[in-house]
Amino acid sequence: MSNANFDLRMVDAPPGSEGSQRELRALPDPIGVAPTIRALTPYEAVSSQAAIEAKPDHHTSFKLDWNECTVAPSPRVNEAITAYLQQGRGLNWYPKLGSTDLVNALVNYTGVPADHLLVTNGSDDALRLICSTYLDSGDRVVIPVPTYNHFMVFVQSRGAEMITTRGKSAFDPNVEGIERAMTEDTRLLYLVSPNNPTGYIHTPETVADLCRRYPSTLIVLDEAYFEFGQVSGIELVREFPNLLVTRTFSKAFGLAGLRVGYLAASPELISGLRRIYNPKSVNTLGQIGAIAALDDLDYLNDFLAEVKASKEILREFFAERGVEAHITSANFVVVRMSDVKQTLQSLEERGVYVRDRSSYPGLEGCLRMTVGTTDQTRRLLERVGDLFV
Ligand SMILES: Cc1ncc(COP(=O)(O)O)c(C=O)c1O
Repeated sequence: MSNANFDLRMVDAPPGSEGSQRELRALPDPIGVAPTIRALTPYEAVSSQAAIEAKPDHHTSFKLDWNECTVAPSPRVNEAITAYLQQGRGLNWYPKLGSTDLVNALVNYTGVPADHLLVTNGSDDALRLICSTYLDSGDRVVIPVPTYNHFMVFVQSRGAEMITTRGKSAFDPNVEGIERAMTEDTRLLYLVSPNNPTGYIHTPETVADLCRRYPSTLIVLDEAYFEFGQVSGIELVREFPNLLVTRTFSKAFGLAGLRVGYLAASPELISGLRRIYNPKSVNTLGQIGAIAALDDLDYLNDFLAEVKASKEILREFFAERGVEAHITSANFVVVRMSDVKQTLQSLEERGVYVRDRSSYPGLEGCLRMTVGTTDQTRRLLERVGDLFV
């Protein structure tokens, strides 16, 4: 019999059985996913990376589908990582527990005290940690849509109930809809600001008001794109014990490949999270890279200025052609096309990869495109400008 469908595990012999010998026991496969996990809708992570890398001329492709930074991170990141490796300290030790040096650097950057911060393996890890710690089966979670769908997987994996609310326009923060969906027993509210994919911002006043009015609801404010919009509710974590703010080094800082994120919240919420937090989840190079990136805010600000100027080029470009384009406060734009599938195909044929968002509520016919530097934007429009008519 083939072992192909069996997972062979060593198991201890039951007490009283002959000797202390170990035996191999066959576990049937598939073992069967837990019912809660079987019931959820998996996140569809479609990236153009493999398609781009398969092309001989891949360096000329535009990867504009995942809202990543379109340039390499600050040179200080490479220097710091190289210096670490050259010191011969190697990678055989576990990373610094709890990323304490990075936490200290983040105190300066965020203005939030160290006991309000937790560093995570990307901000997805922070979002999942929040759901694993604070949600249980049957809890009610309010999510304005369209938004970052990956969060829904973390909610569903806890068996919690999702209540989505949709505004008249996908580009409206829909605070009235949120208020209608909220009840006394809403366990968690998920806000993304700037929102992905529509870019609206929740002002600190709105966030503070919601925190005040729903003191027994956890309010998660996902600020993955904060640097581009420069509006933040992070300071409010000192005031509101029910607020959690998540952020990342994957977007404006250009460290998506290193997987570093963080969250800010009251020390009480942080101590709850620490019950299952993995203090070694952020790898050594990620910690070093993030500290180096924070040490070069001029580089960050130059990139932010480039993205801002690019958005003006795009605003003018689409306005001149009468194309419905939403120039968001983040590093992406949303464009509505009469035949989005055909446009996506034509873009890909010319080595430009953007994200189809036409299946999202209120975004029929829409694609989302990352914004890079002004030089990249001009070259992009030279290559594919004629497709947007
Ligand atoms: C709104 C939002 N939150 C969180 C993330 C996850 O980012 P990361 O896990 O790389 O920090 C993303 C990534 O696209 C996002 O768009």
